[in-house]
Amino acid sequence: MGDRHHPGPTRVEHEARLEQPHVRLEGERSDTLVTRKGMPMRAVDVIMKKRSGEELSRDEMGLIVEGYVKGVIPDYQVSAWLMAVYFRGMSPRETADLTELMLRSGSTMDLAGIEGPFVDKHSTGGVGDKVSLILAPMVAACGVRDPMMSGRALGHTGGTLDKLESIPGYRTSLTESEFRSLIAADGYAMTGQSAQIVPADKKLYALRDVTATVESIPLITASILSKKVAEGAQALVFDVKSGPGAFMKTNADAEALAQSLVRTGTAMGKRIVGIITDMSEPLGFKVGNFFEVEEALDCLEGSGPADLMEVTYRLGGWMLVAGGLAKTVEEGVRACEAAIASGRARELFMANIRGQGGDPDRMLALRGSWRSSHSFELRSPAAGFIVGIDAYKIGLAGVHLGVGRNRTDDPVYPDVGLVFRKKVGDETREGELVCTAYGKDEASLAAARPLVESALAVAASPAPRRPLIIKEISAL
Ligand code: URA
Repeated sequence: MGDRHHPGPTRVEHEARLEQPHVRLEGERSDTLVTRKGMPMRAVDVIMKKRSGEELSRDEMGLIVEGYVKGVIPDYQVSAWLMAVYFRGMSPRETADLTELMLRSGSTMDLAGIEGPFVDKHSTGGVGDKVSLILAPMVAACGVRDPMMSGRALGHTGGTLDKLESIPGYRTSLTESEFRSLIAADGYAMTGQSAQIVPADKKLYALRDVTATVESIPLITASILSKKVAEGAQALVFDVKSGPGAFMKTNADAEALAQSLVRTGTAMGKRIVGIITDMSEPLGFKVGNFFEVEEALDCLEGSGPADLMEVTYRLGGWMLVAGGLAKTVEEGVRACEAAIASGRARELFMANIRGQGGDPDRMLALRGSWRSSHSFELRSPAAGFIVGIDAYKIGLAGVHLGVGRNRTDDPVYPDVGLVFRKKVGDETREGELVCTAYGKDEASLAAARPLVESALAVAASPAPRRPLIIKEISAL
């Protein structure tokens, strides 16, 4: 974790330690703070203080964050500060202050006048993770109001907005008043982040992406929580993915992120649960934008894959507990199962599609047949058991096929992705079909093929089963 050698404190560092800065020199747009003893403190002094591992005050972080949003502090200084945070970390107090500063950089959703409880779920990102599409109508059917603000495909992971937009006509950029009225009518709505919500995260995330500072627990915490608090949720359930297909590759890192989200969210007055779930193989059988809508529909009709339903029910159960609608997670899970069995969750899914401009009849007509004409099959190289389907490689293959993007302005395609016939633990014959991959063109298939082939591992005996729900951290 970088060079641990640090010279003794500079004069400025020493002064800064003795007293907390509190006012801006020459007004709001200033790039300098003044300490109580009248000492000027510039962005470079704040960077230096973090570089030497000291705790920053809220004002000092405000100088960087607010200064960056206003264009007073340049990219190169914010990049240096981000790298210092990456290596030195942040205390829980600093993380909470940063979250608050980011939240205040923009406006928040006003849900006044709609009856709650407002509860949302956030996943740290996975492959084949279409849980939000099933979960939102399912918990809405149980009485939760879910103001869901989602993201697009990021790196090798898929994006809820891209999946929803594969439904013909579906719009994900709702006005605040559309968002409010859809939540009031159907219990949930799905929108993207507007320019007014946490503008600090838009700028900081773009900079982190190109300065190798994404994988920092306090920075991820502040980024995720500021957006979730801005959307108006009173309670939040975090699905922190762990494994090769997740941003957090180990259970220890995933747990550290979950603890940070739970601690910081609780400090901000929210009811928080963090659940660590396995992301070593893709969730369910399908990866791809419209393909995942199809699988979500299967789940809403009671015929979803076991792994996907296990995660969805557990998250739903916790959402009901967090919203005060169930006493125990088991009671919450039973209510969620009933919402699927009665068809009420599916009804709300259809109502939401109509409410957001989509055409449910067209979606149903395309179900199972909307496939690109460019495809290849992966067949088992040997008889035995499937012992691995590497979610990271499948996610990357998906980007090549046209499910996700390499650049933020790349188009994504509805009719591409992967359809598996087997899951880890299944027995296979030699030459048996494991999956079919569909790509936007022949070149995309050529790029994806080695990734898909090397993602598959077959052995003579089955591997021990990994638990899907790894750990639950509740601050309720
Ligand atoms: N997702 C976010 O929204 N922010 C991060 O920092 C990482 C993942």
